[in-house]
Amino acid sequence: MDLLDVLVDDHREIERLFTALENAPPAGPRRRRLLAPLIVGLVGHLVAEEDLLYPAVRRRLAGGNRDADHGLGAHVLAEELMRGLDHRDTADPEFDVLLGRLIAQTRNHMREEEQDVFPRVRAACTGADLRHWGEVVAAARRAQRRVHPARVVDPAARLGAADLVDLLRATATVRPAVT
Ligand SMILES: [Fe+2]
Repeated sequence: MDLLDVLVDDHREIERLFTALENAPPAGPRRRRLLAPLIVGLVGHLVAEEDLLYPAVRRRLAGGNRDADHGLGAHVLAEELMRGLDHRDTADPEFDVLLGRLIAQTRNHMREEEQDVFPRVRAACTGADLRHWGEVVAAARRAQRRVHPARVVDPAARLGAADLVDLLRATATVRPAVT
């Protein structure tokens, strides 16, 4: 799979978890159970975009700096919202507010990428580059899965105040040079 196929697949999985979260009873344990895989998947996705997609956007697209800054701004907001959710009980009314904002702004971001950014990246990059970057992401994710035991994903078993977003970012290993 090339990089853009990987990222679109990520979007589908993120959307699947959003729908499941929306359909889960508020303030219940199911929402908490769904949140951890969402954060794992979304942080992994953001890292792949930050390390591979947006550097290519900056260097290869006309107006790419503006597009990259816009995309990265959405990532910062998504992370803030995920941190807020990770540390909050699902019974806290603020949980619903943060979840609604995360879902709405991420759906908007994914739509912008798929409709505008990804087609321009596909046109501006070679198939060989896109396939290589796709392999880089796949290898980094395999390595990360070996580093993270299941306890990271299970909030009940997680160590104290460990911040899941920070834990995941610390072991994200995608960072090859993009030329
Ligand atoms: Fe994305």
